[in-house]
Amino acid sequence: MPRPLVAGNWKMNGGVAHLQEVEALKDKLAALTSLPACDVAICPPATLLDRLIQMTDTSQIGTGAQDCHTASSGAHTGDIAAAMIKDLGADYVIVGHSERRADHGETSATVKAKAEAGLKEGLTVIVCVGETEATRDAGNAEAFVTAQVQDSLPHGATAETVIIAYEPVWAIGTGRTPTSGDVETMHSAIRTTLANILPTEGGQMRILYGGSVKPGNARELMAVPGVDGALVGGASLKADDFFGIIEAAYC
Ligand code: PGA
Repeated sequence: MPRPLVAGNWKMNGGVAHLQEVEALKDKLAALTSLPACDVAICPPATLLDRLIQMTDTSQIGTGAQDCHTASSGAHTGDIAAAMIKDLGADYVIVGHSERRADHGETSATVKAKAEAGLKEGLTVIVCVGETEATRDAGNAEAFVTAQVQDSLPHGATAETVIIAYEPVWAIGTGRTPTSGDVETMHSAIRTTLANILPTEGGQMRILYGGSVKPGNARELMAVPGVDGALVGGASLKADDFFGIIEAAYC
């Protein structure tokens, strides 16, 4: 099994004062007698990324952005290039989160181009996929998600540089989660798709689960065969909860 990743996605939450939570998380991780058996990362709003990187420099906590532009520079007001994220010293970039697909009309082709921009700059790219409730109810979840994987996967992806995050849209921020069986089935379908596209690398690429991961359900979700970690939204905002997830799953 690849080394798991527990990544926090703060979304559009938190100001400078919120970085206290990162100090608290650092203290909790430092107090462990042995390091958790997983990678840990936080993806704050872009406004906090530089400070976060400086704070976490010597810690086990990796850092990432929540989005990047497809282009390396230019006339794109308000956008951020992957090169800028790398320039700060970040490790990861999330692309194709369902909120960006919905709020900004990002297609899988756009997501793929963003992922390729991230790879080109040497960032590890977290590519998000996931079905809506209507798609699941219609019985099309697997076909939909595997098509998203196929269409969003960047050219040049390797097991080291690309991570897939399966996040059912209906589970994000709702407190609802799929059954362990449903998660296992979807992760297995994603694994098969990856292995078909990339026979060597696809078998080793990490596939995270995301959507209402909490300290109370982390152990069960992370124990599902084929789950290589978590992408955590709301529960990553509080050090206690985020540490609780890391601890429940990988300590
Ligand atoms: P949630 O969000 O943990 O708040 O459900 C997950 C995500 O959107 O990555």
